[in-house]
Amino acid sequence: MTFYVTTPIYYANSLPHLGHLYTMVVADTIARHQRQQGVETFFLTGTDEHGINIERAAQRNKRTPQEQADFVVGYFEKMTAAFGLDQAHGGYDIFMRTTAPFHYEGVSELWRRIAKAQTPKGRPALYKGHYEGWFCAPCAEYKTEDEYIKPETSDEPPRCLVHETPLDRVSEESYFFRLSDYDQELLDLYESRPDFVRPESRRNEVRSFVAGGLQDLSVSRLRTSVSWGVPVPDDPNHTMYVWFDALTNYITAIGFGNEQQEHVVGFEKFWPALHLVGKDILRFHAVYWPAFLLAAGVPQPRAIVAHGMWVDPTGRKMSKTLGNTIELDVLNRFFPIDAIRYFCLREMVFGQDGRFGYANLIDRTNSDLASGLGNLSSRTLTMIQRYCEGRIPSGLIADEARLAAKRAGVEAEDAAIRSFLEHARDVFLRYFDELAFSRALEEAWGVVARADKMISDAKPWDLAKDPSQRQTLNAVLYRSAETLRWLAVMLYPVMPDAAREICRQLGLKDDVARFDPHKLQWGGLPEGTEIGEVKPVFPRIEKTNTMNDIKTTETTATADETSQAPAGSTKGSGQHATEADAVPGVASFIEITDFAKIELRVGEVRTAERIPKADKLLLLTVDIGEPQPRQLLAGIAQYYEPESLIGRKIVVVANLKSRKLRGYESQGMLLAASVGEEGKPVLATFAEEVPNGARLK
Ligand code: MSP
Repeated sequence: MTFYVTTPIYYANSLPHLGHLYTMVVADTIARHQRQQGVETFFLTGTDEHGINIERAAQRNKRTPQEQADFVVGYFEKMTAAFGLDQAHGGYDIFMRTTAPFHYEGVSELWRRIAKAQTPKGRPALYKGHYEGWFCAPCAEYKTEDEYIKPETSDEPPRCLVHETPLDRVSEESYFFRLSDYDQELLDLYESRPDFVRPESRRNEVRSFVAGGLQDLSVSRLRTSVSWGVPVPDDPNHTMYVWFDALTNYITAIGFGNEQQEHVVGFEKFWPALHLVGKDILRFHAVYWPAFLLAAGVPQPRAIVAHGMWVDPTGRKMSKTLGNTIELDVLNRFFPIDAIRYFCLREMVFGQDGRFGYANLIDRTNSDLASGLGNLSSRTLTMIQRYCEGRIPSGLIADEARLAAKRAGVEAEDAAIRSFLEHARDVFLRYFDELAFSRALEEAWGVVARADKMISDAKPWDLAKDPSQRQTLNAVLYRSAETLRWLAVMLYPVMPDAAREICRQLGLKDDVARFDPHKLQWGGLPEGTEIGEVKPVFPRIEKTNTMNDIKTTETTATADETSQAPAGSTKGSGQHATEADAVPGVASFIEITDFAKIELRVGEVRTAERIPKADKLLLLTVDIGEPQPRQLLAGIAQYYEPESLIGRKIVVVANLKSRKLRGYESQGMLLAASVGEEGKPVLATFAEEVPNGARLK
């Protein structure tokens, strides 16, 4: 038996954020769950590297499209390693890139097959025609009238409803896929396989979209319009539509159309896949992709499962365009990986949208992990250390000790806890198979609560004072430790590090990654096992300080070169940096010692004036608590009146090498957030009174 799970492949034009991490965490959890049961599993994630958006991002960054893709992939590699999602940590099996030569071969093969195919209505599946329409580059799709904002005057283009950016008018020769002939076949597919599109609400949505009638799909662009992509076989003047190219990655990755890749992975072995996607891209996966496969005679995926979106605490979808994303380096710096994984799976009811806020993450980490599972683990193991000389005690209560146990309110038989655990495990696994992770975790935390209650009721610390209660004490501690073992096995796919750590502390040698939770049996924890060193599994997170530290990190991290670089330098303030560049330092995780090299100080603006013939620059003198104020140049003249700055508290990088610009010396740099498309600078400042020269840490 094999299993194949995929995430979407992410656009290589910007750096990933929590939304992207989330689908990877879900896929990783599913893959680990399968592997734990001994199922040979293949987990794909990767990047979507072609198309006009990547070309544009590359242009903005003065890179070639390939360099742009490599840059983003470099970040992905670091990030997936930091979050334990890469191959080395038992995560994905392939990081798929659509620029891989085997992908070109495979996707060309799929195109050729479709080019030869007839639709169910007996017409060619592919034909050449002319397309005219409004195209949204960031969405990489044509927009119909109800999908754009109509312009106020006739000489303006309409704007995309999602991005609010102007649409491009596209009129050119194009290959069309005759999607309109596949409506009945698609409807039959949804009908005959109720689990094909999940959850059910999404299946209904897809079904009514198809039942409403399908339009043929333009599947190529002229090479003169989009050159960065896979050429259409036998017609190199055309480039394949980026979604045709991208969707096909799911089969080329495992060997479709390329013998060598087939040999390494195996199409027959692993296909069909479970596709995990955000609801934003469901139509591509549940309508276009199955239609392409129908035309090419390739079997359909196992299922397409759409999850909801992460929204910010005010309910807006998290996206780079809105600037409300949760950045991965901040998450990684302040939270244990397992806490993030737990939060993602516990907080988002699968299929619905989920709200993400740092405060919630801290609260859940402290209540469910530090005080919940973590505390159960520490108290159990510490007591075994203290009362049982660090060895797992016997769980049996002999006949002569039964009365004493009863007196202490402890059941002599372990039947009740055993059947409780078995039932909880079965429910947990059923929810897991339905991808109802939130429910599954609730069930597991029911187990934590029960074990906690057992300890609180039995009061082992009192039992320890009474030699006649020795067996009762042992039995309570055994039951608690055995419950912990069950929890570690069940929770491994969700929190691999913590599960391993609990097993280590329990003194277990077996690899929990290979322990099938279906096979858990009460009593599997051997009496006499020497436990490992006891340590907190989930340290508490101090809320106020951490929230402050996160705020500081975010303020400094969003400052980009555009706000300090004066006109005429390499990056003028009018120049838009892509998301990939907007967050310097994000591309690689730094050590705290690296950060400590930067001396940030509170400054007060004493004077501010414009500089002749430099319309972007202001000349400032700033008091940073030194005997003389510093002279600084800042590229903010288009956004701030000099007079409005006088007396204002700002943040200054105090140990930056001074440099001369337009004949003036700049002795440092001020910090500002870069907002919106044009990178409008917004000065970093303080809500409370702070003395000049105070150091930011
Ligand atoms: N390149 C296409 C997918 C091609 S798949 C053949 C694409 N890329 S993307 O970079 O925009 O990533 C889309 C996916 O990222 C979403 O479907 C979802 O899985 C994930 N998310 C991006 N933002 C998200 C949230 N705010 N919340 C949850 N997931 C989100 O579309």
